[in-house]
Amino acid sequence: MHAARYNDHNGHNERIDFLTNKEKGSSLRKTCIIVGVVVAFLILAAVAAFLIWLFLFKDNAEGTFSKQSSPQSQVFSGHMKLDDVSYAQSLEDTDSKEFKDMARKLEAILKENYKKDSFLAEYYSTSVVTAFSEGVLAYYWSQFVIPVEDLEIVPEFSEERVLETLEKILNKPRTASTGNIKISEITASVTDPRMARSPRATECFHRLEAEENVRKFSSPGYPNSYPPKSRCQWQIRTAENMAISVHFSSFHIEDDCSDDFVSIYDSLSPDDSQAITEKCGQRPPSNPLEVVSSGNIMLINLITDTDVQRPGFEAVYKAIPISKVKTCGGVLADQKGVFTSPLHPSFYPPGVSCKWTIRVPRDRKVRVKFTMFRMKEPGVDVRVCHKDYVEVMGNKYCGEMSSLVLTSDSEVLDVIFHSDESYTDKGFSAEYNAYDPANPCPNQFACASGICIGKELQCDGWNDCGDMSDEMKCDCEKDQFACGNGLCKPKLWVCDRVNDCGDGSDEKQCSCEMNEWRCGNGHCMPQDVVCDGNRDCEDGSDEASCKSSSGICTDFSFKCKNKECVNKVNAECDRVNDCTDNSDEDNCKCGVRPYKLNRIVGGQNAELGEWPWQISLHFMTYGHVCGASIISDRWLLSAAHCFVTHDPANHIASNWQTYSGMQNQYSQENVQRRSLKRIISHPDYNQMTFDYDIALLELSEPLQFTNTIQPICLPASSHVFPAGMACWVTGWGALREGGQKARLLQKASVKIINDTVCNVVTEGQLTSRMLCSGFLAGGVDACQGDSGGPLVCFEESGKWFQAGIVSWGEGCARRNKPGVYSRVTKLRQWIKDETEI
Ligand code: ARG
Repeated sequence: MHAARYNDHNGHNERIDFLTNKEKGSSLRKTCIIVGVVVAFLILAAVAAFLIWLFLFKDNAEGTFSKQSSPQSQVFSGHMKLDDVSYAQSLEDTDSKEFKDMARKLEAILKENYKKDSFLAEYYSTSVVTAFSEGVLAYYWSQFVIPVEDLEIVPEFSEERVLETLEKILNKPRTASTGNIKISEITASVTDPRMARSPRATECFHRLEAEENVRKFSSPGYPNSYPPKSRCQWQIRTAENMAISVHFSSFHIEDDCSDDFVSIYDSLSPDDSQAITEKCGQRPPSNPLEVVSSGNIMLINLITDTDVQRPGFEAVYKAIPISKVKTCGGVLADQKGVFTSPLHPSFYPPGVSCKWTIRVPRDRKVRVKFTMFRMKEPGVDVRVCHKDYVEVMGNKYCGEMSSLVLTSDSEVLDVIFHSDESYTDKGFSAEYNAYDPANPCPNQFACASGICIGKELQCDGWNDCGDMSDEMKCDCEKDQFACGNGLCKPKLWVCDRVNDCGDGSDEKQCSCEMNEWRCGNGHCMPQDVVCDGNRDCEDGSDEASCKSSSGICTDFSFKCKNKECVNKVNAECDRVNDCTDNSDEDNCKCGVRPYKLNRIVGGQNAELGEWPWQISLHFMTYGHVCGASIISDRWLLSAAHCFVTHDPANHIASNWQTYSGMQNQYSQENVQRRSLKRIISHPDYNQMTFDYDIALLELSEPLQFTNTIQPICLPASSHVFPAGMACWVTGWGALREGGQKARLLQKASVKIINDTVCNVVTEGQLTSRMLCSGFLAGGVDACQGDSGGPLVCFEESGKWFQAGIVSWGEGCARRNKPGVYSRVTKLRQWIKDETEI
């Protein structure tokens, strides 16, 4: 009897015994046993043959791997370094005799080793050597197959166990049968089973040679669609001392990476420890995928499943000197400048380290501002950053950061950049400058974080520094409330049910008794009015989020098509079926951006495809006049005041042109132009008060939705956009009060402002069809020319909803004068009545 021992998931030891035929009885029993063994052997052989066929030759086998009722495949891949073997060019050709001989020998060595470990031997299926490269490295993968009946008892194979076995191969001279190959190094790491394929057995295998002039390759079927269930590989090599750069000029793979994906390795085997990146989805031209190897080899895989197929990719590749890839860092001695991670905005290469030493005059210090920072890697804790990082003054930074500003203690600052051998990203771009420590922010407020902000933003109740330092140690003014944590907030925000202080102190001692309910407007009601199905508070807040009162319909309930009510906040299009007739998830093809976007920090220029519902409305020969949003392929939403003016020409549909998919006012590329068939302004629109400032525009011809043209989701009347929520307003309006219109689409993040506060700051001009959004401190707002454009908010369910329509404001971006928007929820029913949307 012998036993195998291994660790299960939890680290407990488990023992599995394999029976041997040592204990035997009479000779009759002996014969029976021999016959039995032979039969069992035959059955086993048949099962093994079937499994080998299933996993290696039957194309769609991997589609069934995940199901518990099918055998499971475990694949490990890596490379081996061969000693005493001279490298021959012919080893690069999988059809050559040399390749085949050498591969066969190595495969035999691998097999022999696995067979020595009883546990691995039990499930071992096959090993395939897939490539050789200079330095005499052989790339391989090994597959283990666990039959269904063992799935329960066999824990996942660990890398350690496989490596432990493989290490026995090292530095041992081989027997004659396997030639005198000595292996001095071997690696193995867990690999997606879909990578297991023999390059010798398929047509979707390419060997490319990178040179200094660019060459092109594309996925099969590009630009129509890639084939289903394919596993394609491109092995790219180049001369020694050169690295490989691959730029995907077009990239469109299915959105879900668990179905279809492209994975790129800094190796010739799909070895996760040397993965450069794994990507899926669609990338806009402004955010191309561009990767570099650290050495002279690279492997690109395309894995696809049975479902949806997309166009695929087209890429160009070329060789670049390794010195160019690996050299970075140096001394920066100017007063200010810019530096970036190697090859930025292309992905940085794996395995590089650099150091910049920034030196400024003696009486100055250094400030470094990262304008773009992206070093994301699966499985990395951004508090530790144990893989790729930027290190400044002993602190490591990684992940994605929207604002990172660092300052030095002296006139020198070292910035270290490190990338390990796996997973790379876009890296960073940073600006540095020298500053006077006695006066770090001339005429501005100096945040503790090192950034400078306008003086007027200090102690205004908003966290402008990002670290709250502009709101600390403030002497609260008369009209301000002193929060428990030292912040000052407008008194108006006290007891408004929004935790403005952050420590809840502004909502703590609100005047209602213990057994009373405090309405949004401050009135106290008996506790039992809450969720009783009646609207007791003026603002209905007592019925706002009543999960339990099913069937009870209030203004805050979502009304299903079958007239049922759902008392859940923002139930529509949240990917959960709440209505029994599922009508809350009907018509939800909206509010998504097909493009995966490059998040550039700080910039206010929108990217192509970032706001695909934005419309530019051109009037006669005046060019852009107003904005609008796409709510269906035939209907746009805009503001009535763009059409109802003293000039009747404004109300004539044929005087207007609409542009969708536009970013730059001077570029018509991929833009769809439509004329208007009809303008429906709200009958109650009031030119004096701007009440009911809403209009529907019917297009003469439907839009074709594309990556850059998509509808926005309209919120149900019951949808809640709470005060404090950060939303976005977009448009080509004036860049500042009285200024010029923008050429590129602009975006600004603005916060929804509490209605009570809004009504005060607008001096009572607010109606229930309006809402405020912006910053009381001023500085960020919509402006002339943005009218009619959307104010959109991103919901956690993953969709964008339109909360408002740019309507009016006193000046632009003035202090205490936030932008006023038409409140879409209040006008939702009218939109439905007119358009059936
Ligand atoms: N009424 C302006 C227009 O026609 C838009 C005003 C928005 N103003 C503001 N401060 N948010 O474009």
